[in-house]
Parts: sequence; structure tokens; C-alpha cells
Amino acid sequence: MSLSSSPSLQRVVVISGAGVSAESGLKTFRGDDGLWEGHRVEEVATPAAWAADPARVLRFYNERREQVRAARPNAAHRALAELEQGYHVDIVTQNVDDLHERAGSSRVLHLHGEIMLARSTIDAGCLIPLGDRDISLGDTCPLGGQLRPHVVWFGEEVPAMAAAAELVSQAGILLCVGTSLQVYPAASLVFLAPDEARRIVVDPHIPEVVPRTIFECLARPASEGVPLIVEELLRQGADK
Ligand code: APR
Repeated sequence: MSLSSSPSLQRVVVISGAGVSAESGLKTFRGDDGLWEGHRVEEVATPAAWAADPARVLRFYNERREQVRAARPNAAHRALAELEQGYHVDIVTQNVDDLHERAGSSRVLHLHGEIMLARSTIDAGCLIPLGDRDISLGDTCPLGGQLRPHVVWFGEEVPAMAAAAELVSQAGILLCVGTSLQVYPAASLVFLAPDEARRIVVDPHIPEVVPRTIFECLARPASEGVPLIVEELLRQGADK
């Protein structure tokens, strides 16, 4: 992708994290009642955990997938989809849920994978939509390899990182929503926007790493803050 191929609409890049889905009932990872308060990362979200006890790892992600199925997009997801009426919007999400897509966003890059897909352990190109199904030990790809969740575990590469960095480097507006910016390499993306880009953070607890001199900080829940920003941007776009 290059600037010469960009459409005439101004480019907005949204970096989203677990906080954007919190009001849909999906737990964030850190902080009080976070997912990592109740589970040890090393036991469910690493290649070593998979090697030691794949059944436990599958159980953990099967439960999380069930929660995603039951969740509905909230006002923040919906507002970001609506923003496409006036802007070229790319969502770069760390979330493995599909709530941005279900709200109607058309360009969503999942940095940490997608929980609704299974992937073969012997053929990385083999992705299988799960729909209503879980993954069990013994479920295999056509080549016979065990299926695993299509999520990025701690200690694994983040294959979508280069594409995400390219998108952020072309942003006219960068909007970060609901991420603690504690996990790298994803967190490094916020520093890649062009100097002239407008930068906004929506999070009830603005992460300390956010430079307040260059970011507009809106300390509100996503379902309140994002619709406010989207309304302002669409109004500005219409005034031009
Ligand atoms: N609206 C907006 N933000 C919220 C809300 C809300 N209603 N509730 C909580 N938050 C914010 C928190 O203040 C915090 O800054 O969401 C952020 C959640 O941070 P984390 O739990 O660390 O989630 P995230 O940044 O997405 O984690 C990154 O870590 O464990 C890995 O792979 C996992 O993708 C995840 C990555």
C-alpha cells in the first residue's frame, strides 16, 4: 500500500484494545477483575503452555469464544463503523473478538489474531472459520495437523505488524481506544503516526506512556468518548 493509492477521503487509523469491548461484557486483561488476574498467562497463552497441556489451552479459548459469541457490539464499535461515511477508516485491533466487523467496520486488521478462526499447527495457511464449533483435541486440518486457536501467544511473532505500521505511518488522524499500551510490539504503533497527524486517546485511565503534549486525551469510557469524537469528525468533514 502506498500514499499514491490512497483514496481522497482523509485517513483515520484506529488502534483498539480490550477496553473498546469492555462495555460489551468482554473482560480486559489487566487491572481489577482482568482476565490475567484469573489466569496465569504462562499456563494458557504461550507456546510452552500449548506443549505442556493443549487441552487446558483449548478449554480457555473455547470459553472465551463462547463469551465473544454472546457479546454484542457497543456504541463505540458502531460509531467507528459509522465514521466510514466520511473517512477512510482502518482499524488496527489487538482484540481477537469480531465485534468491529459485526458493527460494520470494513477494514479491520487483527494484530493478535481472531478467536473465531482455527489454524492448523502444521500448515499456517490453513484457517478454518469455527462458527458455532469449539476446538477439541483430535480436531485436525486436512493434512492431519491438530487445530489450535488463530491467536498470537506471548513469545510468538506478530505477522500483521508490518502492515499495521504502514497504515499508522499514513494516518491523518490516529485514534487510540481502550488499550493499556503495555504489550509490544503493538504499543510501539502509537509512535509511528506522521508529525502532522491529529492524535487522540479515549480511555478512562489514560496510559502513562501516552505523551500528553501531542495526544488529545479523553478520559471517558469508549461507549461515550468514541461517539463524541466520531460526531465531531463527521461534522468537521461535512463542513469542509
Ligand atoms: N472504555 C475504554 N477503555 C477502557 C474501558 C472502557 N469502558 N474499560 C477499560 N478500559 C481501558 C483500561 O483503562 C486499559 O487502559 O482498556 C485498557 C485495557 O488494557 P489491557 O487489559 O491491557 O488490554 P490491551 O491493551 O488490549 O492488551 C493488549 O495484551 O494480554 C494481551 O493479547 C492480549 O491483546 C491483548 C494485549
